[in-house]
Amino acid sequence: MERLNLAVLISGRGSNLQALIDSCAAADFPARIAVVISNRPDAYGLVRAQAAGITTVVIDHKTFAGRPEFEAALQAELVRHDADLVCLAGFMRVLGADFINHWTDCLINIHPSLLPDYKGLDTHARVLADGRAETGCTVHYVTAELDSGPAITQRRVPVHPGDTAESLAARVLEAEHEAYPAAIVQIARERLKTVDPATGIVKNKNS
Ligand code: GRF
Repeated sequence: MERLNLAVLISGRGSNLQALIDSCAAADFPARIAVVISNRPDAYGLVRAQAAGITTVVIDHKTFAGRPEFEAALQAELVRHDADLVCLAGFMRVLGADFINHWTDCLINIHPSLLPDYKGLDTHARVLADGRAETGCTVHYVTAELDSGPAITQRRVPVHPGDTAESLAARVLEAEHEAYPAAIVQIARERLKTVDPATGIVKNKNS
C-alpha cells in the first residue's frame, strides 16, 4: 500500500505525536512517520518516537546563528527523509515565509481552538474569560500568517461549568488526538491517487 511519508516536528510532550504513532500502526492507515524532528533535545516526544522505533533528529535552534540557518538544517533533514507532509505537533518555533512557501500544501499544524477564533497562545484561558460555551481544535494548512491557513478538519468540544484552563485543555486534547490522524487520512485520500493508463480512471492508490 502506498503511504504518505510524514515528518513530525515537535518541541515537547508529544501527545499528538503519540496519536499519530498509534494511528500509523494500523495496517490500513495511509501514512507512516519517516522522522520525528525536535528543536529541543529534552522533548519527551523524542522518547515516544524512539520507543516506537522511529528515527529522531534534534535540531537545536539555540546552536544556529539565526532562523535562516536553523531552517536550512530543517529543510535538509526533511529532504533527506523524503517527507511528503510536514506535521507540526506542538512545535514552538515560528517558521519563516520562505520555508513555509516551499512546503505550500504540504505543511500542517494542529491548534487548540476553533480557528479563526483564538489564534496564538493561551487559547483555553481566553475561551473561559470570554464565557464561551464551546471551543475545540483545528488542523490547518500553515501559511505565512500565524494560525490563519485553510482548515482541514475541526472538532467541537463543550466548555463545562467550573472548567479550568487545565480541565478544558485536557478535553480539547482528546479531540486533537482524534482530529490529527483524521486530517492525515483526508489529505492522503486526495493525494494518493493514480490514473489507470488503460482506462483513464482515477483510482485511489489505497483501494
Ligand atoms: C497541543 O495542544 C497543540 O494543539 C498545540 O500544542 C499542544 C501540543 O501538545 N499546538 P503535545 O506536545 O502534542 O502533547
